[in-house]
Amino acid sequence: MEVNHVELVMSAVDPAQYPTTGYPEIALVGRSNVGKSSLTNVLINRRSYARTSSQPGKTQTLNFYNVEDQLYFVDVPGYGYAKVSKSEREKWGQMIETYLTQRDQLKGVVSLVDARHAPTEDDIQMYKYLAYFNLPTLIVATKSDKIARGKWNQAVSQIKKAMDLPNTDNIIMFSAPKKIGKDAVWNWIEQQAFG
Ligand code: GTP
Ligand code: MG
Repeated sequence: MEVNHVELVMSAVDPAQYPTTGYPEIALVGRSNVGKSSLTNVLINRRSYARTSSQPGKTQTLNFYNVEDQLYFVDVPGYGYAKVSKSEREKWGQMIETYLTQRDQLKGVVSLVDARHAPTEDDIQMYKYLAYFNLPTLIVATKSDKIARGKWNQAVSQIKKAMDLPNTDNIIMFSAPKKIGKDAVWNWIEQQAFG
C-alpha cells in the first residue's frame, strides 16, 4: 500500500477507548526493543512517526495508527522487559489478552523476533498463544542487517525450529534501516486485512 496519511488516533488501555470506525486491524507484538515502532515507521514511510527508543519498555499503551482511513496498525507494548514491576506486568498481560482475544476487527498479528538470536521463551509463548486463539500470524525477524546475508537461512531455520513453525508458515527477514522485507510484510498485511 502506498501510504500518505497516517494518524495516531488513540493510545488505549481499555476497550472503551478502542476506535469505533470498524477498519480492520493488524497488531504488532514482540519483545521490548525488538523494533515494533521501527517496523511501523517503515511501513508507513515515516522516519519517526511511531516513537522509537533505545530505552526498552517505552510504549505502554495500545497505539492505534489510522493508515489511509483503511486500516489500523496497533503497536502493542513490548513484553519481557525485566525492569517493570510484577503488578505492571500483570496489567500489561490483561490489556493485551483483552485486546487479542476480544477484538473482532483484529485480522492478523505481526510477531517480531530478533533475527540475530534464537527466539526467547516469551517469543515462543506468544506464538503459541496466538496459534491457540487462531490468530493469523506472521513472524518478522528484525535487525537482519546485523547479520551477514550468508547466515540468513540459518537464522530462519533456527527460528522455525525453536517455534516449531509449520514449513508453510512464512518468516520474513526484515531490516528497518535498509527497508528490507517491507513489500513482503505489506503483502501479508493486505491479504489479512482485505483479502
Ligand atoms: P518498545 O516500544 O520499547 O517495545 O520497543 P520497539 O519494539 O518499538 O523497538 P524500537 O522500534 O523502538 O527499536 C528499538 C531499537 O532498535 C532502536 O534503537 C532502533 O533503532 C533499533 N532497531 C529497530 N529495528 C532495527 C533494524 O531492523 N535494524 C537495526 N540495525 N536496528 C533496529
Ligand atoms: Mg515501540
